[in-house]
Amino acid sequence: MSRISLINLTDLPPGQSAEVVAEGKIFAVFNVDGTVHVLDGICPHAGGPLGKGSLRGDVVTCPWHGWQFQVSSGQHCLNARICQTRYEAVVEDGRVMIEV
Ligand code: FES
Repeated sequence: MSRISLINLTDLPPGQSAEVVAEGKIFAVFNVDGTVHVLDGICPHAGGPLGKGSLRGDVVTCPWHGWQFQVSSGQHCLNARICQTRYEAVVEDGRVMIEV
């Protein structure tokens, strides 16, 4: 296991999403009322940027065609068979980190 540092928490206020490229991968990072969630940033529908989607509560809407995911679980909101990869996020010294 290794850790990847993604973003300063101060750059991700509550209610915001961010797309972060790190170690050659694209991650979608969300702040839901102070709790940070990280998903694979590539939408499984057609490759849209989930980190650029709008966040309402703990649901993100893909900006390309509107697929919605619960960011705390990665679960697609309508199709139980689709679950986006999620990563365990921790905040250390103000940086959002994930274990991969
Ligand atoms: S690429 Fe995300 S909904 Fe189509």
